[in-house]
Amino acid sequence: MPIRLIVHGGAWDIPAEQEDAHLRGVTAAVQNTWPMLQKGASALDAVEHAVRILEADPTFDSGRGAFLNSIGEIELDAMIMDGRSLDFGSIAAVQNLLHPVSVARRLMESREFRMLVGSGAQAFAEREGFTQLPPEALLTERELAYFEQIKHDSNFRSHDPFGPLPGDTVGAVAMDQGGNLAAATSTGGTPRKWPGRVGDSPIPGAGAYADNSCGAASTTGWGENIMKVLLAKTVTDWEERGQNAQKAAQKGIQILAEKVKGLGGVITIDAQGQYGWAYNTPKMAYAYWNPETKHTHAAIKLDT
Ligand code: GLY
Repeated sequence: MPIRLIVHGGAWDIPAEQEDAHLRGVTAAVQNTWPMLQKGASALDAVEHAVRILEADPTFDSGRGAFLNSIGEIELDAMIMDGRSLDFGSIAAVQNLLHPVSVARRLMESREFRMLVGSGAQAFAEREGFTQLPPEALLTERELAYFEQIKHDSNFRSHDPFGPLPGDTVGAVAMDQGGNLAAATSTGGTPRKWPGRVGDSPIPGAGAYADNSCGAASTTGWGENIMKVLLAKTVTDWEERGQNAQKAAQKGIQILAEKVKGLGGVITIDAQGQYGWAYNTPKMAYAYWNPETKHTHAAIKLDT
């Protein structure tokens, strides 16, 4: 099978002055992960590795650089899914971890539970030896300044799907030499979210989905609405019905927009190894390894 890798770094009206950082970030995730896939790494290893690079990059709303919630704290959600077995691991509302995606993977491999939240997820991460960082290690000046700006703004609505609000969730989808698919997604959620609020990203079928028999997908955007249409599963369902990845991605975003007036984006790879991406926000940062040019292709608008 052909090996494939596609990543995203959020879908929203990315300001012009942040475009370069987004393009650099998604490009780095592909370029640093692709050699692993070429050497025979599993799709699961590849998506975890790519998402770890994005989590460490303060450009994005995941790991370092995440939004602050309404009480000025960072709470993170992540999931990973293996298309061979439909196994997944998911954690939500965890703090002080740079790489929630790796905790989700460890949880998946523990085989006892699939999803842990809050203090239980935190205790699991601690038991498994994940480094607990001081809160300031994940905090950026950009997000602190944004929080100061919105924390007393009575017009700010964290649930408004049409507000010009940022959303830099990250994700990756890969196919390995064995034709196996995997997907992973990681986020700090939405700005000034209620403590304990969980969005789409750690919900299987909403934030990510992977099934070798049809495809794999990772989503980004306003989680409250993405959950309603289980966007990642909706896209892979279209792939199962015979649509190619690009058509399936477009169908998924059409359903998100028409049924629930949602805003977001999706990346996907179908079982034949074709890429697809679609979004109905002004921009989405994404990058993939182009097998024809043998280079990473990164873009932020459909016309770039
Ligand atoms: N898509 C990320 C969130 O809404 O939490």
